[in-house]
Amino acid sequence: MFNNIYRDKKVLVTGHTGFKGTWLTTWLLKLGAEVVGISKDIPTNPSMFEELMLENKIKHYQEDIRDLSKMIEIISSEEPEFLFHLAAQPIVSTSYNDPIETISSNVMGTANILEALKTSNHKCSAIIITSDKAYDNVEQVWGYKEDDKMGGKDIYSGSKGAAELIIKSYYHSFLKNKDSNIKLAIGRAGNVIGGGDWAQDRIVVDCMEAWSEKKSVEIRSPDATRPWQHVLEPLSGYLNLGQELYVKDSLHGEAFNFGPRAEQNHTVKQLLEDLSAYWHFTNVNEAFSITDNIPFHEAGLLKLNCDKALFFMKWQANLEYKDTIRFTSEWYYDFYNSDKNIFDKTLEQISEYENMAKSKELVWTE
Ligand SMILES: NC(=O)c1ccc[n+]([C@@H]2O[C@H](COP(=O)([O-])OP(=O)(O)OC[C@H]3O[C@@H](n4cnc5c(N)ncnc54)[C@H](O)[C@@H]3O)[C@@H](O)[C@H]2O)c1
Repeated sequence: MFNNIYRDKKVLVTGHTGFKGTWLTTWLLKLGAEVVGISKDIPTNPSMFEELMLENKIKHYQEDIRDLSKMIEIISSEEPEFLFHLAAQPIVSTSYNDPIETISSNVMGTANILEALKTSNHKCSAIIITSDKAYDNVEQVWGYKEDDKMGGKDIYSGSKGAAELIIKSYYHSFLKNKDSNIKLAIGRAGNVIGGGDWAQDRIVVDCMEAWSEKKSVEIRSPDATRPWQHVLEPLSGYLNLGQELYVKDSLHGEAFNFGPRAEQNHTVKQLLEDLSAYWHFTNVNEAFSITDNIPFHEAGLLKLNCDKALFFMKWQANLEYKDTIRFTSEWYYDFYNSDKNIFDKTLEQISEYENMAKSKELVWTE
């Protein structure tokens, strides 16, 4: 997998205690990497990071990325060969309640990571994760391309757009020249689902928590269509990008979209019907009911054009919709209803994901 590039390499993951960070850390361990993590806290309870007992399997720093001197100290002393920057305040509703926390973590935090890399100046390939929400959402129906305008009407989206501008200016001001030891690339993806998420205001999380107690969920916007993407999809993109960036100077400074296949688009109602099928309800009405209470502005559908990742890396999404649903529901169902070791369950799903990609001859599986 990934040409074995991560085997025996030191890889620093910021935000490793979060949803995506925990999956990425587990996958990197499976690939034979030595993982170092920086996160300010364990963001949820329950927490996938704690359930998988990852603290015992990696080097874990509980630090805030807004502390520049700490970031310089850690990155200079650890000298990771790869860095995946995921730490952020990622919840749109929280960004309305606490804009400064969101802006300082997402913008200044990213600047601090770049400054620490620049100061350390050891050889490192860094993948900086922003979001599809970094694009100025003009409600266009066709997919956003990597050189479309950055923007964001809500604070979270604006903070990711602003982080992008900072990354670009660090690249042009300090890292662009040929002797730079630091190479960076940006990964942009949309919302993801999958086992182990317990963040607030995420529809799948609300369902899994309620269904584990045999309760029904109230949902809004049942007819809203979303591209339901499993967390392993963008992670395969980020890992693929890290691999390519490590060997190819030409990707330095480039941004890439990682999005789902078009057939992943389904309504919220369809998603809940399909997810609930794994929870043995006698009637789907026991699983959810519909409300018209919409608490804050949510941007319309934002589609990503992923031709650039296909062209430069032959990266493509891997899972079909039905597998995305099965992976997600089965993980939570086993977590709440069986004694199965959940670290093993997570590794099993990663193996199955790799095997499915292999059967499709996706290039990163070599
Ligand atoms: N989950 C999604 O659907 C999604 C979609 C698009 C982009 N993203 C991006 O992917 C990344 C990871 O998202 P997630 O869903 O795993 O988030 P999460 O909330 O589950 O985890 C966030 C992580 O960042 C850490 N963190 C937050 N602020 C920090 C700070 N100031 N200093 C140090 N650590 C800090 C937390 O401790 C945690 O480890 C984020 O950058 C997010 O914006 C996520």
